[in-house]
Amino acid sequence: MKREIYIAEGKSLYDVLSKPELDKKDIVYLLSLNDETEISQLFRKADSVRKEFCGDDVHLRGIIEFSNYCEQDCIYCGLRKSNKHLERYRMSIDEIIETARKIFSAGIKTVVLQSGEDFYYCKEDITRIIKSIKDNCDVAITLSLGERSFEEYNEWKSAEADRYLLKHETANEKLYSALHSHQKLEERLAHLKYLKSIGFQAGSGNIIGLPGQTIEDIADDILLCEEIDCDMCSFSPFIPSPETPMKNIPPADLNLTLKTMAVARIVLKNVHIPATTALSTLTPEGRKLGLNVGANVIMPNFTPDEYKDKYRIYANKKTYDPIEYVSELRQMIHSMGRKVGEDKGHSFKK
Ligand code: 5AD
Repeated sequence: MKREIYIAEGKSLYDVLSKPELDKKDIVYLLSLNDETEISQLFRKADSVRKEFCGDDVHLRGIIEFSNYCEQDCIYCGLRKSNKHLERYRMSIDEIIETARKIFSAGIKTVVLQSGEDFYYCKEDITRIIKSIKDNCDVAITLSLGERSFEEYNEWKSAEADRYLLKHETANEKLYSALHSHQKLEERLAHLKYLKSIGFQAGSGNIIGLPGQTIEDIADDILLCEEIDCDMCSFSPFIPSPETPMKNIPPADLNLTLKTMAVARIVLKNVHIPATTALSTLTPEGRKLGLNVGANVIMPNFTPDEYKDKYRIYANKKTYDPIEYVSELRQMIHSMGRKVGEDKGHSFKK
């Protein structure tokens, strides 16, 4: 409900922020704040919840985008199968393992293996990659490979992969179906539940600023993350890709993105929330802004130079030298009075 109703009920922002549990009405109210002083109050509360439940550590996760082939056709994503303008690539198993070693050498304790939904890499290939990385480097492994079979999830868990990212993208079933012609929200949620049930630390989250998405939908996204009992939640701003049917849709509003992250931190408390690459693409200050409103994770990109320009989920994705980037990040994190996590940064829920 909008602020007028709260004022009519004699409730202030302070009252809402002091509640131990927030319901959907409260979340919608907080997401609708537009007074600068009130928004700052919201951000300060999110930062204090982050400090209380997650401490001052910022966890770095090195990401390898190892294939931009995708069987899916999500209309917002530049990797969609129908995008014929994108030059496709696949990294070899050896290249992936070598890149993971670089991440480990940079002092980063989590390797994220991400790709489009690419079944070229069979169950055994991914298992080989996981085992080889685990044998050579003391790191946690996060998989982000889209929807795969339950049998594959079982095998990769047995191979000691730690985490799986599979965003629900939007909790609005109709919007989900409109954006993903071949997929259903129900199916995605069944995968997330299964991943959790076999012991993966699971990550979900949404995209903010999708056409037709309401503030109520975003409140549902946050509540859905709570219901799934996510260990990690990513709330990223929509950025148009010129190679998709959504090329003319404006990028997400920065303030709405930050408010969503802040409210998510207040509601979800002990989860990992990244300051996403999409947020840094939206504004150069993105990482710092994100870390100040509840985020505690940053995911530096280690995809080799020859490939990274081709992993074009959206336009103007930031590219950089990962080693320089990580050293710059370390300085930034220290200058904010925070520190870089030295352990693997596992779920707070374990
Ligand atoms: N803008 C922002 N995020 C996007 N993703 C895909 N396309 C876009 C876009 N245009 C996100 C999805 C997916 C993740 C890998 O990238 O949330 O889960």
